[in-house]
Amino acid sequence: MPRLADGFVAELKDRIDLHDLISRYVQLKKSGSSWVGLSPFNKEKTPSFYVHPIKGFFNCFSSGEKGDGITFVQKMENLDFYEAIEYLSREFSFPLRFQEGTSSSQPLGQSIRKELFTLQETVKDWFSEQMKTEGVESEVARKYWLEERSFSRNIASDFGVGYAPTDRFALGRFLKSKAVPEKLLVKSGLFYERKNQADWVSIFCGRLMIPIREKLGRICGFTGRKLSVTPEWGEKKAPKYVNSPETPIFHKGQLLFNLDLANKEINENKDFLLVEGQLDSIRCYTEGFKTTVAPQGTAFKDTQAELLRKSNPRRVVCLLDGDQAGQKAALSYVPIFLKAGLDARFATLPVGSDPDQLLVNHGKETLQKIIEQGEPMVTYVCGKILSNKPTPQEKRKVTDFFFPPFSEMESLVIRDSYLNDLAEALNVPPQAVKSDFQKFIRNRKPAYQERSSTPSTQNVEPKPTERLTTAEDDLLYCLLHDVRLGSSLAQIIDPSWLDTKVTAGRILGKILAEILADGPLDGNEMEELLESDDERFIFQNLLFQETEEGNDTSVMETANHCISALFAKSSRKAEKKLLSYLNHPNLENPSTTELRSQLKLIRNSRNSPPQITENELDPKL
Ligand code: CTP
Ligand code: MN
Repeated sequence: MPRLADGFVAELKDRIDLHDLISRYVQLKKSGSSWVGLSPFNKEKTPSFYVHPIKGFFNCFSSGEKGDGITFVQKMENLDFYEAIEYLSREFSFPLRFQEGTSSSQPLGQSIRKELFTLQETVKDWFSEQMKTEGVESEVARKYWLEERSFSRNIASDFGVGYAPTDRFALGRFLKSKAVPEKLLVKSGLFYERKNQADWVSIFCGRLMIPIREKLGRICGFTGRKLSVTPEWGEKKAPKYVNSPETPIFHKGQLLFNLDLANKEINENKDFLLVEGQLDSIRCYTEGFKTTVAPQGTAFKDTQAELLRKSNPRRVVCLLDGDQAGQKAALSYVPIFLKAGLDARFATLPVGSDPDQLLVNHGKETLQKIIEQGEPMVTYVCGKILSNKPTPQEKRKVTDFFFPPFSEMESLVIRDSYLNDLAEALNVPPQAVKSDFQKFIRNRKPAYQERSSTPSTQNVEPKPTERLTTAEDDLLYCLLHDVRLGSSLAQIIDPSWLDTKVTAGRILGKILAEILADGPLDGNEMEELLESDDERFIFQNLLFQETEEGNDTSVMETANHCISALFAKSSRKAEKKLLSYLNHPNLENPSTTELRSQLKLIRNSRNSPPQITENELDPKL
């Protein structure tokens, strides 16, 4: 294997413009000398993914991922180290250099993933051949495909459909004859774990084989449908479908059957069709419903919704079975679509039929009509939960269903229009639904006022989603959302009131000190005071946090609550200190009379904390 010249990797890293590279995947905004955006690794609402092009690294606070350009493409493209080097050398036109004496004609460290893709392709060709060769078994497979399922030879060849013989050693023998390395066979997901050195037992025996392609169209695994010749599993019946297990190139949650072809057709004026099975998907595609996809033998997941969203369709129309299982599945898809920000419709098929049978028995027009009758999510769910004369409790059930996913939606505009739809569907005033929703949000967000204990003394910032907000966080939030509060806060807040173990406390301390010394600051000037990633993270987080819509507590009122809380905390602390002096008289301490008068002062002022009023605000910056 050729070896890279000394120093090549370091030079390549210098050559990579990290901003250029990462902005192909993430929309980045400038933040001081770095860039910030939404994590490509985690679903998040507030940006916590930082890119530092000058230093050449990224840091993702929500997922904990960090590294350089090489690590980044490894993760995003699912590449190993050498594949990532090859990829970057191509992307940044920086040709590979090898150590003298090692050949550069071979590709660099042929990666296992690349070899696995090639292997699946070889296996697909072999399965196709098996379907075509003369024989009793292959005749069963052909008959099943052509007669029982009414597919054609062309469709088999377009989708690479084939046949896996009942001889469970045949595939292994063939691949050994092609000198495929054992290491590759082990990782291919095509064979059972070996008990015996010589045994390569295929997991697919006597089955109709359908190749699965990933989003770029490379075959990454298979699903095999049972036929009349499929051997049973000892006492147990063999399952209807056997799927490739997880391998370095086959990740069920990251796959949708037919997505590569559907993506060629999709645009913002077209809908994805989501069906349950691979054969449904093939049938729909060949009947002209070219944007049909299917989950990979498992329930539909967030990660798959994300794949669909990236293709920017107008919406997704789900075609699920009219039976109970299908309808239950449909309900579980609703929150997934809402959270992904995807519009979806639900079209119900007659009980006991699927898109494949429907197309074969009744034709395209029938399916087209069913698709057009697809119901929007709100209507669909209401139809499932509400009776003809809905009771208040049933209506409540509907809002309980929708509020959690609504609260995780990114767009307030979209959320608001769903809330309106919901009110209409429940036949109640929109304001009622919206107030209940605000209450739901408030109840989920613990307020610092309700906390009895002081913030944790550990200097670790919990994830924002888990964090109980401290008065420092909330006050910084207020200041960032209304910078006119700056001067008043700087006058009122004594630095000793701020807990510097809390990041927001440190940030506030710096900002307020600067304002006291130099006058009002705008948001950018505040940001320039930040000194660590930790601080930038909290700052950005609070900055991007939206003001609660419909919440009539103004930013100034919240700020005043925070001031009261900080003031009360500091006065309790001072009181405790004075009491301990009084209880342990000591020559170095002030006189008892002095201490008592201080204590009285503190207790008297306790109930009248300083507050900001409208006319004390700084003029608009
Ligand atoms: N499935 C699976 N394993 C099973 C059964 C089902 O992976 N043992 C997955 C397959 O992806 C299948 C889908 O669930 O396509 C839907 O199952 P089902 O409705 O039973 O199958 P159909 O797609 O209708 O298959 P067919 O038309 O071949 O009966
Ligand atoms: Mn079917």
